[in-house]
Amino acid sequence: MTVTVAIVVAAARNGVIGKDNKLLWRLKSDLRRFRSLTIGKPVVMGRKTFESIGRPLPDRTSIVISRNAAFKPDGVLVARSIEEAMERAADVAAQTGVTEVMIAGGSEIYAVTLPRADRIYLTEVDLEPAGDAFFPAVDPLQFREVKRASHPAGHDDEAAFSFIDYVRR
Ligand SMILES: NC(=O)c1ccc[n+]([C@@H]2O[C@H](COP(=O)([O-])OP(=O)(O)OC[C@H]3O[C@@H](n4cnc5c(N)ncnc54)[C@H](OP(=O)(O)O)[C@@H]3O)[C@@H](O)[C@H]2O)c1
Repeated sequence: MTVTVAIVVAAARNGVIGKDNKLLWRLKSDLRRFRSLTIGKPVVMGRKTFESIGRPLPDRTSIVISRNAAFKPDGVLVARSIEEAMERAADVAAQTGVTEVMIAGGSEIYAVTLPRADRIYLTEVDLEPAGDAFFPAVDPLQFREVKRASHPAGHDDEAAFSFIDYVRR
């Protein structure tokens, strides 16, 4: 079974995804989308993003990447390199019969996994905040937009947003 690698990210119009290891907006609609895209799938993330979330994501296998041998939190798998994380995620996918591995950030992990991503699920947030963590502009020569839905801010959303799906060309 072929396993595809998908990035899931919420980025402001200026590419900002976070500041001081936190998200910069409250967007309930995006949390719902993140949950529905990732539920039941292996989810790969960096140690800082894991600490920002503060707990293992329920109903998903989290694979957390850290170089620190002392980092052994309960409830997640730990990988010491991107390669190890991708292998473990593919194993989990094969064992559980799912075909998609999800990359959930943050910016360091996005940067090194983007070249091997087959798909990007982007939530473009209609804000331009100052931040210290970024997602690069999606290169139209590498990725083709296949779906876009724009939404006004809903109840419990701090901004309008667009859900945009890209697939590798
Ligand atoms: N808006 C969104 O969709 C979204 C999603 C996720 C995160 N974020 C935001 O992004 C920010 C965090 O991103 P970040 O770039 O600072 O951190 P990160 O990518 O979450 O984690 C970085 C850590 O991962 C480990 N790591 C990275 N590359 C590695 C490699 N090649 N081999 C082994 N370990 C590696 C290191 O952990 P050790 O230091 O333990 O070795 C490194 O410190 C936060 O502001 C967060 O809120 C936003």
